[in-house]
Amino acid sequence: MGSRSIIEPFRIKSVEPIRMTTREQRERCLEQAGYNPFLLHADDVLIDLLTDSGTGAMSAEQWASIMRGDESYAGSRSYYRLAEVIKDIFGFQYVLPTHQGRAAERILFSSMCKPGDVVPNNTHFDTTRANVEHVGARAVDLPIAEGRLPAILHPFKGNMDAGALIALIAEAGADRVPLVMLTVTNNSGGGQPVSMANVREVSAICRRHRIPLYIDACRFAENCWFIREREEGYAGKSPREIAQELFSHADGCTMSAKKDGLVNIGGFLAGNDEALARQESRLLILTEGFPTYGGLAGRDLEAMATGLEEVLHEDYLQYRIASTAYLGRHLSEAGVPIVLPPGGHAIYVDAAAMLPHIPARMFPGQALAAELYLEGGIRAIEIGSVMFGSTNAETGEETLASMELVRLAIPRRVYTQSHIDYVCEVMTDVFAKREQIAGLRIVWQAPPLRHFTARFQPA
Ligand code: F0G
Repeated sequence: MGSRSIIEPFRIKSVEPIRMTTREQRERCLEQAGYNPFLLHADDVLIDLLTDSGTGAMSAEQWASIMRGDESYAGSRSYYRLAEVIKDIFGFQYVLPTHQGRAAERILFSSMCKPGDVVPNNTHFDTTRANVEHVGARAVDLPIAEGRLPAILHPFKGNMDAGALIALIAEAGADRVPLVMLTVTNNSGGGQPVSMANVREVSAICRRHRIPLYIDACRFAENCWFIREREEGYAGKSPREIAQELFSHADGCTMSAKKDGLVNIGGFLAGNDEALARQESRLLILTEGFPTYGGLAGRDLEAMATGLEEVLHEDYLQYRIASTAYLGRHLSEAGVPIVLPPGGHAIYVDAAAMLPHIPARMFPGQALAAELYLEGGIRAIEIGSVMFGSTNAETGEETLASMELVRLAIPRRVYTQSHIDYVCEVMTDVFAKREQIAGLRIVWQAPPLRHFTARFQPA
């Protein structure tokens, strides 16, 4: 049994066609999109690895939940069910539903931060950083050194550098650090997990300074699976038990349920501080909705509750992590440089290493993403200097990111192994002609979060 394939632990009940295009068609589409995959029409994409967010397939049980949703404006049964599920897995008493993760972030940072504050994170995701900066606070990334080195193997590359956290708190003063965040798994750092030991250590530092610890919980179940596989003492524990322990070290969390909530829309903000929750509810009412629906339909709350239960199933997590590792292993064997070891939700190709002839200011990641589309209709995104860099408006000089990556994010329960084999074949062909790939230059951009709308031309 041990040597047999880890198969998709589901069969398919409903299908959706995807469309093949010719290279000429794709050339036209890419040019119209300003060489930015975000600006492509999804119908012109064959395999869409742009994101694992909100792109998953719901189970039959979740569709049944949709029918059970209670659409009452106030006091919906679906809200109470969701709040119970969240209390059990995450252990937080106060649950505010939001339409997605960034709404939870905005409410949290608006409630907790003021201008001049500092928010440390292992690595902020782009919207998280933007929401911290929007309230005038400074977002500081504190990954361990290994987290910035794509080729170095480490079981928990998502860990926060605890020494750097202590130094930052000392330098800024604890009263200027309203909260510390840990992102599990660390998306921008390669989908890499954070160890329980690191959560414990960071939590102890926070408690010593009376600073609340929040978890950005988007991919918590995948992180818990890695803890079970790689950290001593967890092999016999269920993913749910590991999650319960992980969140017991924190004061609250933000969640984009579009990832490990297995839904197409939804999120929440949760915590144990009653006064803070009351303040957050006021903002929630202002922009999202009444606290028992928070910008979602009752059916969305119900599907989310079911998704949070399903995502912790062992056969699901085993398949999920194995299928990402499968893509990583095949790309590595083909010589493609990737962030090692493979992360939970995505494989990150090291575009700087693959295209050393393209300087970072000509965006090797963006160029590689464009080429993947041209070669095989695959959509991926750059996580590098387009996403995290900026152009000085006066000098035109580029501030660059520390890594130039291309993320192949795998939607949950959507693509089969033959789709993934196709991705490997296309990437192998692109790799073979890597020396012919040219860099790009930005012809139009709108900061912040310029990567969503920027337009490019071949340099
Ligand atoms: N935090 C992390 C770690 C994320 O990856 C995301 C979204 C968010 C917060 C924001 O959640 O989109 O529901 O508002 N990541 C998506 C991605 C968009 O493609 O990685 P949201």
